[in-house]
Amino acid sequence: MDVSIVGSGYVGTTVAACLADLGHRVVNVDVDEGVVSSLNDGVAPIHEPGLSDLVATHAGSRLAATTEYGAVRDTDVTFVCLPTPANDDGSINASVVESGMASLGEAIASTDGRHLVVVKSTVVPGTTEEVLRPAVERASGTVAGEDFDLVVNPEFLREGSAVADFFAPDKLVFGSPTARGHDALAAVYDPLFDRADGEIPVVQTGVREAEMIKYANNAFLATKLSLVNELGNVCKAYGVDAYEVAEAIGLDDRIGERFLRSGVGWGGSCFPKDVSALVAAAREVGYDPQLLEAAVAVNDEQPRRLLDLLAGRVDVPGARIAVLGLAFKPGTDDVRHSRAIPVIESLLDRGADVVAYDPAAAGNMRALFPDVEYAPSAAGALRGADGAVVLTDWEEFATLDGEFDAMASPVVVDGRRIVERREGIEYEGLTW
Ligand code: UGA
Repeated sequence: MDVSIVGSGYVGTTVAACLADLGHRVVNVDVDEGVVSSLNDGVAPIHEPGLSDLVATHAGSRLAATTEYGAVRDTDVTFVCLPTPANDDGSINASVVESGMASLGEAIASTDGRHLVVVKSTVVPGTTEEVLRPAVERASGTVAGEDFDLVVNPEFLREGSAVADFFAPDKLVFGSPTARGHDALAAVYDPLFDRADGEIPVVQTGVREAEMIKYANNAFLATKLSLVNELGNVCKAYGVDAYEVAEAIGLDDRIGERFLRSGVGWGGSCFPKDVSALVAAAREVGYDPQLLEAAVAVNDEQPRRLLDLLAGRVDVPGARIAVLGLAFKPGTDDVRHSRAIPVIESLLDRGADVVAYDPAAAGNMRALFPDVEYAPSAAGALRGADGAVVLTDWEEFATLDGEFDAMASPVVVDGRRIVERREGIEYEGLTW
């Protein structure tokens, strides 16, 4: 099929490269000329394992990019992967998607065939029907369901394993008012069904349900982590190892063994934004979402608890503190909503001299904290430090050993249960 993708962020680029790999002819449309020329040169504009190979293989043949929305006209289906940033009150700002939909509508106004428009952007229930569909209809002079199909297809890719997740999804969700919309999108995914090892569950549902499934999925996971962190805080107070407890409760398959690692909390571009958006959306319809608010509150609490543990052992004002791990999780250079941000802010507020290290994310953190010192290695950050905090579970932190001996005082507060050395240092775990 001929497929267009509007928006070349991490979802749009990954989906484009993977659909090209499945045999479709794909064109990416993005306003950013740098991203467009990078894709046309066969270079992935973002870092995702496996993506560079796919882009290099398919650019110039099945994968192209352009800044012209008109390219949409020559395709059968368009995936809309534009961002929905947060407003100050946590609600989503759908204006970028809305104007993208209008440009898309203009482009498909004169097509002969029946276009399929697929919303991948994360939008709160009602947005597609009340904002996005009218935007396409106004601009195209055509009607959804009659002249074109509109389906919501939320994305569940994780950063750092997005390509692998695309080819082996837990589920696909298709939200459409008509069976015709469901079938049209199934046809696009047909080559994936053929390639997949097992059967991929496809949830065929309504538009609002599909929009809500994305939020419910992320809200559930974020709340699960906050519950695990709260239980961990209680464990710590009783001298109980929260990781032993987690391993045992994970054997109950109603709980599940994954996503039970307690520590300094969740970050990234999705959980914080989506939970806040769902809180705002719930309030909008007069519901007070107490549990979701508590999930956010517990998450905000964890960095403070970590710093209190540090302050119990080190006189923080004037001390040199090593911050190990700046990315919101290992395997990425992304620092959006990383727990390292409140930790560094608070250390600076308390008058500490911060020296930070991350194998991938130092450059991005430097843009937020230009005056902090960035060490080229964990050893460099630890040398002469009065204390260290560990905030990302990068594998290389597991094997740190003699490096701790070069600290001025070997105090280590671990927020991710990653450091293995315990002997000869003052080691403190956040929830164990
Ligand atoms: C998350 C979801 O997992 C994806 O399914 C979803 O598609 C994506 O958001 C999105 O909405 O686009 P991602 O943000 O890449 O994916 O990150 P996760 O791997 O889910 O990790 C989120 C945070 O939870 C990280 O800060 C991580 O350190 C933390 N975490 C995770 C824990 O603290 N403990 C755990 O056991 C697992």
